[in-house]
Amino acid sequence: MRIALGCDHGGFELKEVIKKHLEERNIEYMDYGTYSKESVDYPEYALKVAESIINGESDCGILCCGTGIGISIAANKVPGIRAAVVGDVFSARLCKQHNNANIICLGGRVIGPGLATMIVDEWLDAEFQGGRHQKRIDKVIEIEKKYSKK
Ligand code: RB5
Repeated sequence: MRIALGCDHGGFELKEVIKKHLEERNIEYMDYGTYSKESVDYPEYALKVAESIINGESDCGILCCGTGIGISIAANKVPGIRAAVVGDVFSARLCKQHNNANIICLGGRVIGPGLATMIVDEWLDAEFQGGRHQKRIDKVIEIEKKYSKK
């Protein structure tokens, strides 16, 4: 499994924590930046990570900004991306089991490193349950198709 990582300046420190945690778990990752606390625009990093997943270069992604919100809104504009803002362990598990979230978005100004790494582990170790949940995701895909301009 390979994970795409991305952040803006508000999520930079948390991304570094997550990188270290993934290394300890021997999980491969690609770091799409940003690489410092200098101010940047989160949509650029959301797009890099989302495209890495859609192109098959990565299996899933973790995005960090100040709240996790802006970067999730941007990532969710890419068809096929299901990016969930997560701030608790229960939602971390359920966003995989029910929503098959292929990106989680974390707020570097909201949660601390301990909770963030627990969230990452819970999400990575959970499995999508399919069944009625797949039917609902299929309906989300129908919405994407209805509003995508070619
Ligand atoms: C950047 O200041 C901040 O707006 C950004 O990190 C994020 O929180 C946006 O949703």
